[in-house]
Amino acid sequence: MFGHKLIYTNFSLDSSMDILTKPLALYAHVPFCKAKCTYCDFYSIVGKEKEIPAYLRRMIQEIENAGSHWDLSAYHVDTIFFGGGTPNLLSPAQLDMLLFALLRLTANNSAVEIGMEVNPGEVTLEALQAYKSIGINRISIGMQSFQPELLKFMSRIHTVEQSLETYKMVRQVGFENVSADLIFAVPGQTLQLWESDLKRLIALDPEHISTYSLTVEEGTVLKRWVDDGHIHMLEDVLDTDMYSFGRDLLEAHGYKNYEISNFAKPGFQCRHNLNYWTGVEYLGFGPAAHSYFDGRRHWNVRDLEKYMNLVDISGEPQDGFEDIDQITTKNEMILTRLRLSEGLSLQEYFSAFGEDLLEEKQAQIKKWDHHLRIQDGHLMIARSAWSLIDEISSDLMDAMP
Ligand SMILES: C[S@@+](CC[C@H](N)C(=O)[O-])C[C@H]1O[C@@H](n2cnc3c(N)ncnc32)[C@H](O)[C@@H]1O
Ligand code: SF4
Repeated sequence: MFGHKLIYTNFSLDSSMDILTKPLALYAHVPFCKAKCTYCDFYSIVGKEKEIPAYLRRMIQEIENAGSHWDLSAYHVDTIFFGGGTPNLLSPAQLDMLLFALLRLTANNSAVEIGMEVNPGEVTLEALQAYKSIGINRISIGMQSFQPELLKFMSRIHTVEQSLETYKMVRQVGFENVSADLIFAVPGQTLQLWESDLKRLIALDPEHISTYSLTVEEGTVLKRWVDDGHIHMLEDVLDTDMYSFGRDLLEAHGYKNYEISNFAKPGFQCRHNLNYWTGVEYLGFGPAAHSYFDGRRHWNVRDLEKYMNLVDISGEPQDGFEDIDQITTKNEMILTRLRLSEGLSLQEYFSAFGEDLLEEKQAQIKKWDHHLRIQDGHLMIARSAWSLIDEISSDLMDAMP
């Protein structure tokens, strides 16, 4: 067990090989949860943990198939993320097997960011120690709230005390790159309660914080409650006030708002998510996982049984694909980069598409003049205009033929 450690601990942190090869991000989806949260539409199933060994066999097969199918000799693994669902439902030995398969995809891996999501109250000190020893170096804890009644509303099965205890243990075993998620604009939440949540999290001093506005997703219990009129979501104006308040408070405490929902101390931005947002290619494994590779986006079936059958029958669990043409690439660059505080590099845009964006979109840029900034060759949304981000981005995007 843990035999693969040689694969990455033998490499020095000298990243000279990284310059010669292209970065690749890898995602492994763990579709199991102990309970389904009212708001969540991520693919996850409850009460099926006995399927984990069978699922793992298929996922390892899928990873090996990808290794034979794609020529990855020009790549190095830059980041790996175990997301869910609930990755901590896999034992350290099971995650280690996945890691072994993932790291074998490319030859030259050094200083890989290897992150996993952890649900509060679902890990022991021993498990965390073992996760660290297999090479996990970034932990993201889904705390969501420090208000017992809001946790209950979201049907989270953890308590506030368990969030604190899990955080303490994560530190105790020596993780030095720790993130926590909070949700705001939850029905029943006031600005004061939000402030209190943020202050409690800041006091814990994680390196990274994500704050998400509660969204009503199709097919969720929350959606049914809202449609039935049992629950009223917060007014947009309170939602935006909460966001702005949170951003100011977090920035005042040294967490830079580097992407609309993400805040980090210097040097602790999530490299994996930055890879998604900056057009780095990625391969996703497991049911419902998405990939973007070789000019094509593809996604796996969103059903564990079908996923396993397809891997067995054809080795190919895809549900669909989309070839990414030049216009889509352009539009995606605009959409994702404008969500980043550093904005869109005009030089990079020009190199990629041979177009001067300021010239091409003169009229639109003029229209949003007050809400856009150009700084150090980057086009960015003014701090005060973040709530217009979707409108501005879609105006700057090319119409699809
Ligand atoms: C899908 S979860 C997976 C990680 C882990 N199972 C957990 O619940 O923390 C990842 C994050 O997405 C966020 N999330 C999921 N659905 C959301 C929604 N409808 N609105 C806002 N945030 C959401 C939660 O904050 C959660 O921490
Ligand atoms: S929010 Fe996390 S724990 Fe809750 S159902 Fe979704 S993936 Fe599972």
